[in-house]
Amino acid sequence: MNTNDTEIAWSILQKAGYSRTLELQKADVVLLVTCSIREKAEQTIWNRLKHLTASKKRIQKHKRSLTIGVLGCMAERLKSELLDQEKLVDVLAGPDAYRDLPRLLSLAHGGQRASNVLLSLEETYADVIPVHQTLEGHSAFVSIMRGCDNMCSYCIVPFTRGRERSRPMSSIVEEVRMLSDQGVKEITLLGQNVNSYRDLSKLQFSCSERNTQLSRGFQSVYRTKQGGLRFADLLDRVSLINPNMRIRFTSPHPKDFPDEVLQLIQERSNICKHLHLPAQSGSSRILHAMRRGYTREAYLELVENIRKIIPGVSLSSDFIAGFCSETEEDHQQTISLLKEVGYNIGFFFTYSMRKKTHAYHRLEDNVPAPVKKRRLEELISVFREKATKVNMTLIGNTQLVLVEGKSKRSSEELCGRNDGNVKVIFPKTNLPVQPEKTQMACITPGDYVLVKITSANSQSLRGHALNHSSLNDRKTA
Ligand code: 5AD
Ligand code: SF4
Repeated sequence: MNTNDTEIAWSILQKAGYSRTLELQKADVVLLVTCSIREKAEQTIWNRLKHLTASKKRIQKHKRSLTIGVLGCMAERLKSELLDQEKLVDVLAGPDAYRDLPRLLSLAHGGQRASNVLLSLEETYADVIPVHQTLEGHSAFVSIMRGCDNMCSYCIVPFTRGRERSRPMSSIVEEVRMLSDQGVKEITLLGQNVNSYRDLSKLQFSCSERNTQLSRGFQSVYRTKQGGLRFADLLDRVSLINPNMRIRFTSPHPKDFPDEVLQLIQERSNICKHLHLPAQSGSSRILHAMRRGYTREAYLELVENIRKIIPGVSLSSDFIAGFCSETEEDHQQTISLLKEVGYNIGFFFTYSMRKKTHAYHRLEDNVPAPVKKRRLEELISVFREKATKVNMTLIGNTQLVLVEGKSKRSSEELCGRNDGNVKVIFPKTNLPVQPEKTQMACITPGDYVLVKITSANSQSLRGHALNHSSLNDRKTA
């Protein structure tokens, strides 16, 4: 989300005549795009701000000014603390106030501290074309909705990013078409809660409105919207734009996976067979305290249904260790869920209490820090053991890989991702342009290549590339 917010803010500033430098010495404005989801993310920014303030003093000695701004969730959450008490920043802009940045900056240039942290019910930046800057231009994020109404009891997002609102489908389709024309090979539809997407701008009923129930065994804390165009409609439209462009989406909520979404993912060869299914915990008691709207059993049933409809699907998840009142028994339940599901990719966090949330007001953050840490390590180790086994089942298979660039460890190796979003590393060579063709071509970022997998661990797959390919070839293979 922050990458995308940076791209949006940057687009607005570029239009206002700003140009970008990556060198601090050349900058007269420094903007930090911030996250408040956990204490640790905020601590990083506080440290950065202290360094920047020291640089600012040095720069001012040379009669030059440096304006420091904080954008995003921390601006929203800490408002006066950042501006008045600590006096570390000149400009504050909350997630819905980026259009106001040129005005805020000009106030700051005039010597005033300036802030806008108003949240909006409508802002989706639908008409702002982000300046994409990821993966050398072969992969791009496309924001489809902002905010979240879910109110999970631990989560600050509904308070910092506001109410859930969807960007009109027409502007999303337009942006994806533009990216496709520019040669982008992979887009990730982005939002806090992507699969509850609803474009209510043209209140037409989609043909499959009858099937709009929540996933079986799931509840929503807020009234689900009716009518309009839904996530399945959006996936349908977006995936038809360019059959050779991969479509991913993140983050969904497990409650909104009706069969029609799953069937569409299975049918379309360019919608990646990877689902992020944030479980957070394997204990129904903790899930209830987290206000996630499902039990362990409902979650497992959903996994079973997903695997029935999309065989071989790759699954990823988020987990929180040490949420309020979590016992060893609850923790063991999470361990057993990890073993039972067998995720390909996992993200693990220790619980970090956030002000304003339901948990802050009503629950006690009573799991000691060392216990949280130990549980986190246990979750990661169980995940790794299982993920190694899951990834090893791919040994001997050929995987279609979208090449990202050099691998981190060696310039002789390339790295990319398979359909399931697992990293694949392979030696750099020239390859036949098609199977059994003698004409050879080098591999560059943005190419699709077929890689035969020879080894695997919990983080990545390794293999050797066979030939250049495309999503279209794969469909007919
Ligand atoms: N403490 C720890 N982890 C959290 N997350 C969200 N809020 C918190 C918190 N207060 C995690 C959840 C979510 C991911 C993006 O961050 O696992 O899915
Ligand atoms: Fe936070 Fe829950 Fe919304 Fe995700 S779904 S952003 S965890 S409130």
